[in-house]
Amino acid sequence: MPRAGAHPHESATWLRSGCRYLAPLLVTQFPTELQFGFLGRVLPTTEPVELTVEMYRIPPAQALQMVHGARAVAEAELAAGDSGPATPELEIERTASEEFGRALARRTQELWKVGLRFVARGPSRPRCEAVRVRLIERLSSLGFRTRLPRYETELLLRAPDLTAGEARPKGYWHTLPTDGVAALFPFVDESIVEPRGVLVGLALSDASPVFLNRWEHASFSWGVFGTTGAGKSFATALLALRTRWMDPSVEITILDPLGEFGTLARTLGGEVIRIADGRGGRLNPLDPRTTGGNRREKAGHVSTMIRALFPSLEDAESAALDTAISRLFERGPDIPTLSDLTRELEQTGAGLSRLRNLLEVFRTGSLREVNGPTTVADGAGPIAVDFRGVPPDQLGFHLSYVLDWAYGRLRSRPGPKLLIIDEAHLLARHPATVAFLDRVVRHVRHFRAGVLVVSQTPEDFLGSSEGRAILRNLYATAFLRLPEVSAAAREFFGLTSAEAEWLPKARLPREAGYSESLWRTGELHLPLAIVASTPEYEFLSPLLGRAGSTADDAPRTGVL
Ligand SMILES: Nc1ncnc2c1ncn2[C@@H]1O[C@H](COP(=O)(O)OP(=O)(O)OP(=O)(O)O)[C@@H](O)[C@H]1O
Ligand SMILES: [Mg+2]
Repeated sequence: MPRAGAHPHESATWLRSGCRYLAPLLVTQFPTELQFGFLGRVLPTTEPVELTVEMYRIPPAQALQMVHGARAVAEAELAAGDSGPATPELEIERTASEEFGRALARRTQELWKVGLRFVARGPSRPRCEAVRVRLIERLSSLGFRTRLPRYETELLLRAPDLTAGEARPKGYWHTLPTDGVAALFPFVDESIVEPRGVLVGLALSDASPVFLNRWEHASFSWGVFGTTGAGKSFATALLALRTRWMDPSVEITILDPLGEFGTLARTLGGEVIRIADGRGGRLNPLDPRTTGGNRREKAGHVSTMIRALFPSLEDAESAALDTAISRLFERGPDIPTLSDLTRELEQTGAGLSRLRNLLEVFRTGSLREVNGPTTVADGAGPIAVDFRGVPPDQLGFHLSYVLDWAYGRLRSRPGPKLLIIDEAHLLARHPATVAFLDRVVRHVRHFRAGVLVVSQTPEDFLGSSEGRAILRNLYATAFLRLPEVSAAAREFFGLTSAEAEWLPKARLPREAGYSESLWRTGELHLPLAIVASTPEYEFLSPLLGRAGSTADDAPRTGVL
């Protein structure tokens, strides 16, 4: 095996220089459209790829001549009438060169001769070849055509002589308009500063800040996904704080399965409702005020909740239950309770003893706490609903009526509101609750409200059509470290393979002092550090976390 020496060693498609291997790549064709800043996706900071661009302005008279020449060729071919399937392209070329000729004449565009080469690097040949393969994938996903230089590596890697005339392999020189050159410019300011937005993070590449204003987009809802200890709860609390600083009137409701946000809610002048022992008040699952008084809609929600509690109901039992619920909301008291429902059921046909026994849980069993009128005061302060201590088989039921109540709160209260749902995968598990969450995420914008869906992995949501609809309706999605990124997730979120490979390596706050994350907002993919200022950190860190446990609590289900 040849030893890595000081002299360059060239093979067909790569070159070794000292201990480094260089694998160059040429671009033979550009896509018809290029986004500004596309280089951020082609050259993520995690990939050792170098791009060299040299550009020379073509004098305007020569540029005009070239454009006229291209137009004349297209016209001649079209006039000959034998261009067959190429006709539409020729027509586009003719129109484009006409328009471009006008832009050239007005001097709003110019033509450039651009030399371009990518070089993948690595300490070994397989490593640098792998970097190049990934680069080819990223380029081709954006519509570029590429080519490996064969026995031309040295010619390609030679330093430019700045005459714009030296010999280079085919595919090195391109003619581009000013816009194309601008899109290639590597120092695009990727920072986004939306007026009145909150700071979501600092770009990992150059620490430029990114501010997003959730109220300015088609959906006010965002998602935060990350493995345990990735900093989801912290990032959520930070976003909530910053949101309130920008607009103190934003009302915050938190579905808090692990009881992490209670102290924060109280510190901000709010309250905590503890579902397991009823501390903080009761939410009556049957209260029709949560659907703005719409009793039919409420009846539908109540069916969903009770099904989440008793997934084993048989068809006859389900039908009897639906009938009893409908009757209760048609003719029953203004604000029914679960006792009213059990009473209604007693008047419904025979042979339902199993169902009646099941519903006894509301009268004499472990769910008697929820049997009664709502006693929670509907204040403006943040409200955290703590589900700690709820038996796992009752969690879906509690989550569904609390979500119903929270939705009602968003609907009935004026002003901007934020609903935070931590550990949202718990809702994604039950078909009924995932459908309800989908409705919530879809409609809350009409009530000036946004949802922050916080969960460990997007995979929990990709498994159902409602789950995918939820993900689609999130304007911004932040991925903190993920254990893995499936092919389905990659495709759904349009992640490049480099991004998908990076996410399981994104640094954790306990390693870095901040969370490394990838934000997807519209078309943009932004690798950001979620950083708290010292006062924010000092304020938040003692407030977050579960009483009597550490953030890295062992088995997740054990907590519930
Ligand atoms: N951006 C950050 N800057 C500094 N410290 C952070 C940051 N994010 C998280 N931490 C710290 O890291 C620890 C874990 O964070 P956090 O509890 O938010 O993780 P998580 O993703 O919610 O985990 P879990 O899934 O277990 O709830 C906490 O002690 C928190 O204070
Ligand atoms: Mg958490």
